[in-house]
Amino acid sequence: MVFVTFEGIDGSGKTSLMKALAARFSAQGQEVILTREPGGSSLGARIREMVLDAKTEGLDARAELFLFLADRAQHVATLIKPALDRGSLVFSDRFADSTFAYQGNGRGLELETLETLNTVAAGGLAPDVTFLLDLPVSVAMARIAARKGEGEARFDGLSVSFHEEVRRGFLTLASRFSHRIRVLNAEKSLEDLSDEAETLLVSVIRGTYAGRP
Ligand code: TYD
Repeated sequence: MVFVTFEGIDGSGKTSLMKALAARFSAQGQEVILTREPGGSSLGARIREMVLDAKTEGLDARAELFLFLADRAQHVATLIKPALDRGSLVFSDRFADSTFAYQGNGRGLELETLETLNTVAAGGLAPDVTFLLDLPVSVAMARIAARKGEGEARFDGLSVSFHEEVRRGFLTLASRFSHRIRVLNAEKSLEDLSDEAETLLVSVIRGTYAGRP
């Protein structure tokens, strides 16, 4: 039915927004599938371990890319597509925009190549709407520091300038795909963010969102 993705730098609060929004739609009787990348399938859970574990040292940027894409291919085929076909709302914590921002802007891989490979991996599937939670890297890093001890350290150990590049990448995507990507100020309260996202999503579901592709 409607495929929604939540994107942003680490510590942007996208997971909290996704859960809060899902609770609102489920309360109205709508089936909502919550999932994430990497890790949205059983193969994906194993890929997630490999790619996020700080013990995975010296991972080549292209090898990393193909792990994320393998995760996506399996995720789309086994979970996202079947759920959309059943008429569910599907919320994914990260999807292709993360690949463009992290592997493109962050790791320096060529964006056009990433777009081609992603289309193959995703079987042509693109989100109907994407919420981009935007905030300064310093604020996001302070949030991450406050919740340390979650174990998946490989990306958390990257420099401020890496995260600045990723943030810039997301914002560039948002201006390129302004019909799909809605930028939210991640420093707002969860309540305000949920209100904003809910209003937009209700109009997308009704098919009235003017910018819908
Ligand atoms: P996630 O668990 O969502 O991290 P967080 O909860 O901190 O947002 O994602 C793990 C990391 O994987 C995150 O730093 C971004 C990275 N990532 C990529 O580099 N490329 C991708 O295609 C995806 C899906 C994630």
